[in-house]
Amino acid sequence: MSISRRGFIGSAIAASVASGLNERGLNAQDKANSDAPASGQPFGTGKRPIIICANNGVNYLDGAFSFLKNGGDTLDAAIRVVKGPEDDPNDDSVGLGGLPNEEGVVELDACCMHGPTRRAGSVGGVRNIKNVSLVSKAVMEHTGHVMLVGEGAERFAVAMGFPRENLLTERSRKIWLLWKETNSTHDWWGPGLADPHWTPPSTPPQAALWKERIHRLEEHAARLGIEPEWRMVAIRRVLSPPTGTIHCSALNDKGEMSGVTTTSGLAFKLPGRCGDSPIIGAGCYTDQDVGSAGATGSGEENIKIAGAHTIIENMRHGMSPLEAGMDALKRIARNYNNDMNKLKFLDMTYYILRKDGAYAGVSLWEGYSDKPHKIAVHDGTRRSEVTVALFKGASHEFPPFPVNMPKELTQDSVYVK
Ligand code: GLY
Repeated sequence: MSISRRGFIGSAIAASVASGLNERGLNAQDKANSDAPASGQPFGTGKRPIIICANNGVNYLDGAFSFLKNGGDTLDAAIRVVKGPEDDPNDDSVGLGGLPNEEGVVELDACCMHGPTRRAGSVGGVRNIKNVSLVSKAVMEHTGHVMLVGEGAERFAVAMGFPRENLLTERSRKIWLLWKETNSTHDWWGPGLADPHWTPPSTPPQAALWKERIHRLEEHAARLGIEPEWRMVAIRRVLSPPTGTIHCSALNDKGEMSGVTTTSGLAFKLPGRCGDSPIIGAGCYTDQDVGSAGATGSGEENIKIAGAHTIIENMRHGMSPLEAGMDALKRIARNYNNDMNKLKFLDMTYYILRKDGAYAGVSLWEGYSDKPHKIAVHDGTRRSEVTVALFKGASHEFPPFPVNMPKELTQDSVYVK
């Protein structure tokens, strides 16, 4: 069945408002079947070993799972997964080829936690070093600190033998240029969504004007030399800067576990902006007694609820992985007084692994009907599973996009949350 995006979201919001925010959370899903994803498949078999990650890591799970099964360390296994997208110039949300800040400079964030030794490492705003997941591990192993940022983190990485390299691929540079030239008056300066006085545009430009704008963007993208098959991806990035990221948690047969999160952060951000990914307790948290969790999505929102730590504490106090994640999502909604006019511009996905191998993937919104949010899993069988969402439908683009997003702009094979 085809549903127009505006209609789909509108009815979802109406349903959520009418029925109360708990409808998609504990009432509808948890009470009936405490570990069932939206797909209807059973979540969380409790098998060990197991690795879970954001879906852009699915192609790297086989090697990491073999490594883990053969006795490899849990953090090393998790890093084997996230290093794949870090090294891939076509994944523009992580590492090499990540979309840059507003000045055209790629700045990367990462953190990790090693459950067996209860240690942590983190780096923020790192330039010129591709594998920041490994740099965060080096901070953990070779310093008495937990977090290094900016130039100091880069110098530390070079001292540890990491090569300096240009992380800005030609494609990402051209997408940034398209953004810069298109949004010269629309950027991240000024009050954000969380400002009490923020209001969405009240008089959206007519749909025809937006079609014309997209046409002009296509022409501009062609002039910049962006390949035809990348033009719609580039326009989507420009109109709706992504916060792509990858998280991975790994659990071995002995019950040891670790987690890692790495990202290039919000595209076209202010220089120096750190999201949730390098924040221990927000983008990633592992407690050897309980479980491991991580996040992708709106970093600012996740920092405010210490999402990964909140989820682990929820499980420590008896919630299932699904209940624990849903509670964290509801805290994000609470921070906006459950105002759907604001929540529709946010999204968040949590990847949750309990010490016994039970797991869940939850998200604020379902995603597009033909591209729902997914979690990737390997417990002997590699697969992707649809997350359980708090709200039906897909989030809106931010900054607000006042007409239905054309279908071709929603097709995006590269950036997969
Ligand atoms: N969640 C990634 C970021 O906001 O930077």
